Amino acid sequence: MKFFVDTAEIDAIRELNDLGMVDGVTTNPSLIMKSGRDIREVTKEICEMVDGPVSAETVALDAEGMINEGRKLAEIAPNITIKVPLTWDGLKACKVLSGDGRMVNVTLCFSANQALLAAKAGATFISPFIGRLDDIHLTGMDLIQDIRTIYDNYGFETQILAASIRSVNHVQEAALIGADVMTAPPEVIKKLASHPLTDKGLEAFLADWKKTGQSIV
Ligand code: E4P
Repeated sequence: MKFFVDTAEIDAIRELNDLGMVDGVTTNPSLIMKSGRDIREVTKEICEMVDGPVSAETVALDAEGMINEGRKLAEIAPNITIKVPLTWDGLKACKVLSGDGRMVNVTLCFSANQALLAAKAGATFISPFIGRLDDIHLTGMDLIQDIRTIYDNYGFETQILAASIRSVNHVQEAALIGADVMTAPPEVIKKLASHPLTDKGLEAFLADWKKTGQSIV
């Protein structure tokens, strides 16, 4: 499974990227707002640092506006993925922009039928939002499974980008189902390394090592 990091914070991306943990980046208008940076400047910086796809989101509501914004965003760098919302106009924009040869990430997907439409419109990535479905007491992970089944039934090449990931369990479950990509905040990616038994085991080893009186260097 590819790891995308869901943030526009340069230092956090760099730390993970230096470790080889970053296959791409996703941003959205809220994350740009949180970064306090200019969208063009920060996105360019991210694109220069990361080799993989970097999603930058359009904000127009009509297809023509999304296409114009998408083409403008794509001028930032060759690894820009244009992110459009899963609306009827977003699907029209997806069809045109993917026809231009651009990578397109169709975002704010909350149903398998929406994902089916995005694949037919030529999306490179479909972003089903797990956490936001869980927030309204539905099981977000069921959507990942349903989309996997449908895409596999018909051989769609659109990649499932499990989004709105809030926990390490979300990452593991999405990987078990076979999501192609997951995008998560840096804190969640770092938490994947933690296990209480690792901490407990380390504590016991160090206590015993101290009793030996030895040193390695
Ligand atoms: C994905 O592309 C979105 O930016 C993100 O995963 C949304 O996550 P949230 O629901 O935690 O805001």
